[in-house]
Amino acid sequence: MKNEKKQICPAEKAWHLDNGIRRWLQNPRKILRPFIGEGMTVLDMGCGPGFFALEMARMVGCSGRVIAVDLQQEMLEKLKNRICGTGLADRITLHQSAADEIGIIEKVDFALCFYLVHELPSPAQFFRELKNLLKPEGMVFIAEPSFHVPQKAFSDTVEKAINAGFIPAGMWKVFFSKTMILKNTNDS
Ligand SMILES: C[S@@+](CC[C@H](N)C(=O)[O-])C[C@H]1O[C@@H](n2cnc3c(N)ncnc32)[C@H](O)[C@@H]1O
Repeated sequence: MKNEKKQICPAEKAWHLDNGIRRWLQNPRKILRPFIGEGMTVLDMGCGPGFFALEMARMVGCSGRVIAVDLQQEMLEKLKNRICGTGLADRITLHQSAADEIGIIEKVDFALCFYLVHELPSPAQFFRELKNLLKPEGMVFIAEPSFHVPQKAFSDTVEKAINAGFIPAGMWKVFFSKTMILKNTNDS
């Protein structure tokens, strides 16, 4: 299937993604607590200005690492400015991806794809690459905005992840979101 050009969230609207109301409704620590522990290497795919990446860095502790990936350098700059001079800077690696390639090789324990997949030109290709990055017991958390992504489109996303070799492991309650937790199959 042809890669589609999708609209991406512009960096000048990044403030929508990190404010007190969102923190109250979608508290990153509460959402991610069951999935992230100390010492893990975790991926925040489509990290934006770092609403989740910052908390992920606190959760993995000083022995863990967060790889924060975004297509837009401006988003990564915003995150860089926030961590500069803090103890979290050593735990977060910033990486600018291409639209159709994540471009990292390090294996991760957990990958977060929060409000990302509907912006990807080829989710099927993305899930195939992600599968290769995940450790055998690794997990993926997908969340898509309910107001923007209809059920049919979300089901298609999950199907593409399954076709890439992931196993659905349940949903997670997040305000205004459709979610799916995926497990790796142990064939990688
Ligand atoms: C709606 S924002 C969500 C940001 C963050 N995950 C959050 O929930 O706060 C989507 C982010 O995905 C990034 N993005 C879009 N397409 C991408 C791609 N192909 N590869 C990496 N990042 C992408 C955008 O630049 C934007 O920062």
